[in-house]
Amino acid sequence: MPTWDLLLTGARIATMRADAGPWGLLEDGALSIAGGRIAWVGPRAGMPPGTAAETRDLAGAWLTPALIDCHTHLVFAGNRAAEFEQRLKGASYAEIAAAGGGILSTVRATRAADREALVEGSARRLASLVREGVATVEIKSGYGLDRDTELRMLEAARSLGASLGVSVSTTFLGAHALPPEFAGRRDDYLRFLVDEVLPAVAASGLADSVDAYCERIAFSADEVSGLFERALELGLPVRLHADQLSDCGGAELAASYGALSADHLEYTPERGVRALAAAGTVAVLLPGAYLTLRETQLPPVEALRAHGVPLALATDCNPGTSPLCSIRTAMSLAATLFRMTPEECLAGVTREAAKALGLGADRGTLEPGKRADIAAWDIAHPAELSYWLGLDQLRDLYVSGRRLER
Ligand code: NIG
Ligand code: FE
Repeated sequence: MPTWDLLLTGARIATMRADAGPWGLLEDGALSIAGGRIAWVGPRAGMPPGTAAETRDLAGAWLTPALIDCHTHLVFAGNRAAEFEQRLKGASYAEIAAAGGGILSTVRATRAADREALVEGSARRLASLVREGVATVEIKSGYGLDRDTELRMLEAARSLGASLGVSVSTTFLGAHALPPEFAGRRDDYLRFLVDEVLPAVAASGLADSVDAYCERIAFSADEVSGLFERALELGLPVRLHADQLSDCGGAELAASYGALSADHLEYTPERGVRALAAAGTVAVLLPGAYLTLRETQLPPVEALRAHGVPLALATDCNPGTSPLCSIRTAMSLAATLFRMTPEECLAGVTREAAKALGLGADRGTLEPGKRADIAAWDIAHPAELSYWLGLDQLRDLYVSGRRLER
């Protein structure tokens, strides 16, 4: 007879398994946990005999996979509220960037912050996500743009995860902007990234993937290619900020390198969507940036759906284009602005977000063998998770089977 560490009963369960009908729904379900993993999940009536060290009756609460925010820049110093005011008066994001503000203003603040200051200044943002049921967060570097600050950001990201008891997936984003000391010397900066910074990042083991910002105001497809080739040689998977402000061929570029994800995609044309589908690259949609930039070009949601591209959603939490520290708000925005269904929204922050991080086999659905990262909600139906704006409905968050104190 199996022995479990914890048995949860009396729950309605949205397993989010793709092969188990709408929401992967189970009424009057039970779920058992052993060694931090899901041991069994199904209707209570079909539960095999077993003994549990602890049993909790959830009295009708809903269980879903814990949420996953698969695209954030939440480690940085300072903020850009002043720039936000400038934008409200009519300045564009690209104009502010061209005048040395934008990403570069956060680079100045981040270079001046030590590791403790970065951790302390970013903890509140991560804590906001965790309070909403997020147990896995991707965090990018990209506000250092020199070797030491990039490494420091990645260290800060890892230590934030450890101190809040959640799991952090780190991404090296050295190709985010051209730093001032390389002004007019783009090729030198790319060579520096490829020859010095990327190998140091790979050797440090501090990054789980490599990202780049492919855009007219950032790096071209050719420039990104050299970086991606080196990343793959060093054994690091890639992802891309693609087609956010213009069609730069970003989706096709990401697909051609077998990227885990291509993110933003507002300006991606049909051929880019087809390339993502063929490569199995996850589309990560970022409605917080769409909203904050007052973008009007919608990402091609219908085409992505029609071609079977996995659709994930994330906050893109960053000081410039998406000061959003709420994954629930991202879900609501995706439903309202992008017309994603509430089920797609929940899948986008669980199953598909796990895929975007290369963690699809380990988490993102409630099924035996996966990590027991589970959210318990006081809701009447999981569509509510994409419906309310700003309502705290989380009852409990379990990370690797342990209830997190919030
Ligand atoms: O995802 N697009 C580039 N990177 C961020 C913005 C970063 C910033 O403005 O600080 C984004 O939107
Ligand atoms: Fe981003």
